[in-house]
Amino acid sequence: MYTEKVMDHFTNPRNVGEIENANGVGEVGNAKCGDIMRIYLDVEGDVIKDVKFKTFGCGAAVATSSMVTEMVKGKTLDEALEISNAAVAEALGGLPPAKMHCSNLAADALHAAIKDYHEKQEKKE
Ligand code: FES
Ligand code: FES
Repeated sequence: MYTEKVMDHFTNPRNVGEIENANGVGEVGNAKCGDIMRIYLDVEGDVIKDVKFKTFGCGAAVATSSMVTEMVKGKTLDEALEISNAAVAEALGGLPPAKMHCSNLAADALHAAIKDYHEKQEKKE
């Protein structure tokens, strides 16, 4: 049911944890099931230097977040914003239809973290 890539990212997730002085943090939850996803960004200039995630979600949520962090590291914020949940699922070789919403969690948290970064920058000005 799951591709090898999904299993790989699930059993050996990349970039799990927290960034202490993250300048962008995004948290999203799924009200229906209570699953939560948090993404931390360390942005310098316009580039994502570091990214970590924490999730209270299922295996597909772990795999998609892990994949998202790998996809955005070293990217500019604008490039990262273009990454959709479908792109994440595709990079993993696909997800079972019942698990597509789990990749929403990862992409939404990423977008929320970028928004948070922009808001924090505006406050500084
Ligand atoms: Fe909660 Fe999938 S059941 S995000
Ligand atoms: Fe809840 Fe996947 S994150 S089912």
